[in-house]
Amino acid sequence: MSFSTHIVGVGGYLPERIMSNDELATIVDTSDDWIRERTGITQRHIIDKNQGTSDLATQAAQQALDDAGLTVHDIDAVIVATTTPDMVFPSTASMVQHKLGGKGFPCWDIQAVCSGFVYGLAQADGMMKGGMFKRVLLIGAESMSRIVDWSDRNTCVLFGDGAGAVVLEYKDAEHGILGSVLHCDGSYRDLLMAQHAHPGASPNNDRARLDMNTDAAGVAAVSMKGNEVFRFAVTKLGEVVDEVLGKHDLCKEDLHWLVPHQANIRILNATAKKLKMSTDQISITVAKHANTSAASVPLALNDLYRKGNIQTGQLLLLEAFAGGFAWGANLLRWSK
Ligand code: ACO
Repeated sequence: MSFSTHIVGVGGYLPERIMSNDELATIVDTSDDWIRERTGITQRHIIDKNQGTSDLATQAAQQALDDAGLTVHDIDAVIVATTTPDMVFPSTASMVQHKLGGKGFPCWDIQAVCSGFVYGLAQADGMMKGGMFKRVLLIGAESMSRIVDWSDRNTCVLFGDGAGAVVLEYKDAEHGILGSVLHCDGSYRDLLMAQHAHPGASPNNDRARLDMNTDAAGVAAVSMKGNEVFRFAVTKLGEVVDEVLGKHDLCKEDLHWLVPHQANIRILNATAKKLKMSTDQISITVAKHANTSAASVPLALNDLYRKGNIQTGQLLLLEAFAGGFAWGANLLRWSK
């Protein structure tokens, strides 16, 4: 045995309200058939107007803590991966700490859009290996419904809200996280983005008067060149899988489970084909809750775990592709 980072608790939360494709078709010019055929999505969950991303994150975190048989007082740090924080500041992680009843230990958010959880797992693992923390609560949580343009059928059909969480523990035990690879190429900014809410949202804002040439609506909205994102995503996800496996002298045939970011069923199928994996070995949740950005990978892990499908010692690969472009993968042997 040797020291490594282990997932010791898993949780997930989806807000109660479900929006079907048929309901969406009453808002924009689309259809259940088109959405199912092009994306595999049948429905998405939508956050309540009285909830914030931190509420979704707290629910998922509490389930992960319960699953680990721990409380917030056993935790040394909270990291929330999100692109839809409750506020510009303070961090959503600090709100989660407070809502869970914790105090004193460090909390911060990370932003790598849909790759946020994969980035967060790599970061937490590195810090734990470096001796900073024994137990970390890592959460991916999003309210994408708050930043999609509900008049743009190209994007609004693709996203949903939710949160997934894991409790990580650094200990002397078999298996655990083997390693991660992360990448980013900022030159692709314009293919997938949500421009920042403009400071001109308030008519009394002096800064707004300086920037009158920009849209002062103040609402961030996702825009995407879907076809180009699709092609790049399939290529890069294939490469990153080879890279992380190669680093650990493993090959595709060694993999038991793929836990991918859930953007589109066609991306998942294309990746499976590249890996020569059966779709039975892939956690697929996109149909039920669409693309939940940073929550997508931990929700897919939670789904696989709650179905009782993962056996101790099995090799799992988590991967994601996101705006930036930012992409990456984590490799681990299940030890729970
Ligand atoms: N309903 C009906 N028709 C639609 C809709 C809709 N919701 N959306 C687009 N269409 C139309 C288009 O206008 C177009 O019509 P036209 O041929 O008359 O011009 C036609 O359908 C085909 O459009 P395409 O964009 O070519 O459709 P495509 O098969 O590529 O599917 C999609 C689009 C689903 C967006 C796909 O490209 C995709 O999933 N891309 C990747 C998304 C992704 O990976 N995102 C990554 C992460 S997200 C993040 O990081 C925040």
